[in-house]
Amino acid sequence: MSDINQLRTIREEILHCQKCPLAKGRKNAVPGEGPSSVDVMFIGEGPGYHENQQGKPFVGQAGMFLDELLASADLKREEVFITNVVKCRPPDNRDPMPEELAACAHYLDEQIALLDPKVIVTLGRFSMAKFIENGKITQIHGKSHQVGKRLVVTMYHPAAALHQPALRPALIEDFSKLRHLLAKEEPIEPKVEAPAPETKPGKQEENPSLPEQLSLF
Ligand code: URA
Ligand code: SF4
Repeated sequence: MSDINQLRTIREEILHCQKCPLAKGRKNAVPGEGPSSVDVMFIGEGPGYHENQQGKPFVGQAGMFLDELLASADLKREEVFITNVVKCRPPDNRDPMPEELAACAHYLDEQIALLDPKVIVTLGRFSMAKFIENGKITQIHGKSHQVGKRLVVTMYHPAAALHQPALRPALIEDFSKLRHLLAKEEPIEPKVEAPAPETKPGKQEENPSLPEQLSLF
């Protein structure tokens, strides 16, 4: 089966899944959204009220903030995959329980294997904990970690910054660092930060340090 069909199959399984008690309270399971092959994948915690209503990830207030953050990292929603560690809404947005996380984990593992992203951005403690044992979000937010063949960037959850405005500047700064990191990760299309120096014949010999200096900006 092609990757795209396998992703569709996982999606169908999630939509009908009864593997943990979160199935009971849901209106819609939220498998995740994005292309079938991506460089960057975002992993949140679990669907909230609006996500449960619509069956789509990050469509409420936290999602609007995530859209702003994505734009600040030069990313469009359509070019990344967005999902959660649990695919059904925990009642009253409580934290997912260990049994629910364990029951749901294989869906996310399969999605990661098929999408094969270079970079995974975790949003909040629960997706961070999947990759970084004993990580403390206050200490490692905005940092990148090599985990197997992937880079995992651990971010605060956008909803946390909505509840605690003091976290907002950190999240904004961490996403601007993400922009630089992704620019480095993609050597095929380097982001040009400065206009290319003119290359009139003889000009470079006159001032050999010019191109190097320009490239610093
Ligand atoms: N918060 C999450 O963690 N995921 C969503 O999809 C929405 C809000
Ligand atoms: Fe199945 Fe995951 Fe939903 Fe639980 S949260 S019912 S394991 S899809």
